[in-house]
Amino acid sequence: MLPDPTLASRLARHGQDHLLRFWNDLDADARARLLSEIDRIDFDQVDRLVATLVQGSASTVPEPDQVRPIDVFRLPRTDAERVEHRHAADVGAKMLAAGEVGVVVVAGGSGTRLGFDGPKGTYPIGPVSAASLFQIHAEKIVALGRRHGKPLPLYVMTSPENHEATVRFFDDHQRFGLSSVRFFVQGQLPAVDRQSGRLLLAGKGRIALSPDGHGGTLDALAAPGPGGSPSCLDEMRTLGIRTLFYFQVDNPLVKIADPAFLGLHRAADAEMSFKVVEKLTPEEKVGVVVRVDGRPTVIEYSDLFPKLAELAERRVQEGHLELWAGSIAIHLLERSFIERVVGNHSLPFHRAVKKVGHVDESGNPVEPSTPNAVKFERFIFDALPLAERWTLVETDRSVEFEPLKEATGADSPATVRQRMSDNFADWLERAGAYVSRRPDGSVPFGIEISPLFALDDAELKDKIEPGRVIEGPVYLGPDELRIAR
Ligand code: UD1
Repeated sequence: MLPDPTLASRLARHGQDHLLRFWNDLDADARARLLSEIDRIDFDQVDRLVATLVQGSASTVPEPDQVRPIDVFRLPRTDAERVEHRHAADVGAKMLAAGEVGVVVVAGGSGTRLGFDGPKGTYPIGPVSAASLFQIHAEKIVALGRRHGKPLPLYVMTSPENHEATVRFFDDHQRFGLSSVRFFVQGQLPAVDRQSGRLLLAGKGRIALSPDGHGGTLDALAAPGPGGSPSCLDEMRTLGIRTLFYFQVDNPLVKIADPAFLGLHRAADAEMSFKVVEKLTPEEKVGVVVRVDGRPTVIEYSDLFPKLAELAERRVQEGHLELWAGSIAIHLLERSFIERVVGNHSLPFHRAVKKVGHVDESGNPVEPSTPNAVKFERFIFDALPLAERWTLVETDRSVEFEPLKEATGADSPATVRQRMSDNFADWLERAGAYVSRRPDGSVPFGIEISPLFALDDAELKDKIEPGRVIEGPVYLGPDELRIAR
């Protein structure tokens, strides 16, 4: 017998009555779960998304003549600029000491490209210690809290798929010594068949759902906690947190709550700020920050071609790209700005055409070999045009951006570990050590420095004696110095 007939007719009205096709094959638990999944779907919203992003040709890509380059705080090149950065860092340090800064890491993605079967943050990336991404981030936060005399709270965004595994990982590691960490779960949206726009069933009694993109962070921060407890934003208000440092779990080089970035953001009274790097090639897979009709906007890399190809490839003096400001997904957001956005706006949805496994009309599993489905995602950077004031700050990609995305090639474990070792070798040399290198300057063994040993090169200088010769793997852990020869 079918459930409540009004449900069946409601689904039929939306062309989604196939969701109950296998009802008679389901036991009581499976029926209850399916009903609760259906209950959480806003079918009117799905209809709109299908009409615009599956059947329609609604494009969020601007016309080329609407797009202009945008002003950015370049890396300091003159003494005056260096002084300005130092002043900004002093302001940022005061914000940290006052406990006004919280940290948000988005770790809800499925990490399909990396081919790793677990939350991406648990990936053992440390070149010597095999520390996980989560451990490296957490140790930076602990070290920063110690340096500024005020622990920083960490907010970890998970998805329903990886939430439990993520919380367990932190618990298994005594939360890495963090004094405050809270997990919050992002929303999910159904994936639909790219031809018909009908929802896909992942099993006879399960709808194919996927995370709603990191744009979902804002709603998830505002959503009530478990059992109706205060939302993350409410909790932050109580704690006196004004500014959130936001980053993606996949970049172990991120300078968490970088004081100079904080200070430049505060000096501009900005609502949202971005760190950017100079894009080297038009095709590089980073979103580009531009002005569209005067508003600051990010155009995602996948949207540049073909419509904006001419602009994306245009070079100015000395061969630099005109649209050069690549977003590395490191942001500052004022808590009050998030509250305003959540209360008054809805970030736009984007479509992602992906392969999604499902069951066919007879209930047989199908693993598609070509993209068969559309997923809907929101992106946090779409909040930028809503900001009344903003700052964009250039950083040096070699010291702050080496994301883990792929299993092999660029952005893979091999390139990330090499970059980490090379950067730590630079720190050691600045502290007076001698490090063996290959002719191309890269280091032929792993070097790793725990943030609890030294958070930056300046701190390292105080901790090791000059003249040390390093010819093999080194791990400088929280309280020890080990050199393998
Ligand atoms: C992303 C940015 C791109 C930026 C680049 C820098 C998008 C759409 N684009 O590209 O502009 O230049 O990073 O590395 O994000 N995540 C969630 N929930 C989701 C989806 C993603 O938490 O629903 C998290 C992932 O865990 C990951 C991060 O967001 O940490 C990035 O997602 P990913 O899909 O890898 O984005 P990219 O295409 O690499």
